[in-house]
Amino acid sequence: MITVEKLTMYYGQYAALKDLSFEVRKGEILGLLGPNGAGKTTAMRILTTYLYPAAGQVRLGDVSILANPLEARKKTGYLPENVPVYPDMRVDDYVRFVAKARGLTGKQLTERVEWVREACQLKPIWKHQISEISKGYKQRVGLAQALVHDPEILILDEPTTGLDPLQILGIRDLIKNLAHEKTIIFSTHILQEVQAMADRIVIINEGRLVAQGTQQELETHACEKTGRQGPLSLEDIFIALLRVEAHEGQV
Ligand SMILES: Nc1ncnc2c1ncn2[C@@H]1O[C@H](COP(=O)(O)OP(=O)(O)OP(=O)(O)O)[C@@H](O)[C@H]1O
Ligand SMILES: [Mg+2]
Repeated sequence: MITVEKLTMYYGQYAALKDLSFEVRKGEILGLLGPNGAGKTTAMRILTTYLYPAAGQVRLGDVSILANPLEARKKTGYLPENVPVYPDMRVDDYVRFVAKARGLTGKQLTERVEWVREACQLKPIWKHQISEISKGYKQRVGLAQALVHDPEILILDEPTTGLDPLQILGIRDLIKNLAHEKTIIFSTHILQEVQAMADRIVIINEGRLVAQGTQQELETHACEKTGRQGPLSLEDIFIALLRVEAHEGQV
């Protein structure tokens, strides 16, 4: 469904992504895992056409995002690192505003706005001004704007950052409920987050792919590379693969 091929991206002289390739299958939740500065946000900005790579290609199904960015944007909902809300707007007005900007009108607009209000559990703050709602609710409003046009693909940049444990569970449930219907990539540097939500994991570090697969596949890979015996926790796997990568480049 999503094919990322040899992405390279520079900020000035600094290479933030180096030949990064990975795949996401239809209906899958993929956890993009990596330490701070690994390149997660940069990769997501390219996937959502906000940045243009120096080299490489991304395909959403058969749509090349470089050749056809508008088509790519239609297929995709994006929750950026900083939720793009207008603090002075009311939640209901904001969600309707985004729906209209996404080209929805009439009955379809009303139905989709109603759907995200329910799905993202926005009822209690529906008529509140955005500047007055909690961080957890802001994140839900961010998800609502990403979902309102019913995209096939969701790209979520650290969707649970800064939330309390109850809010984290709420957002996780919401994302898991969307599984199978949508193809989802979320980024995180929190290991438990990928364990709780991801079907498959892509680990990146310093702009490079370290490994990709299910947790089981990554464990097998880490055991092979280090000569250790399983079972390994995801933390052990992560550290082992990063160490191997530091020694021998991409594994
Ligand atoms: N606009 C920019 N100009 C210059 N360097 C940048 C810019 N944005 C990111 N970088 C650098 O590129 C690298 C990758 O950054 P990126 O934000 O993609 O990482 P990340 O994995 O999302 O990190 P985090 O977990 O902190 O969100 C970092 O070293 C960062 O400092
Ligand atoms: Mg980031």
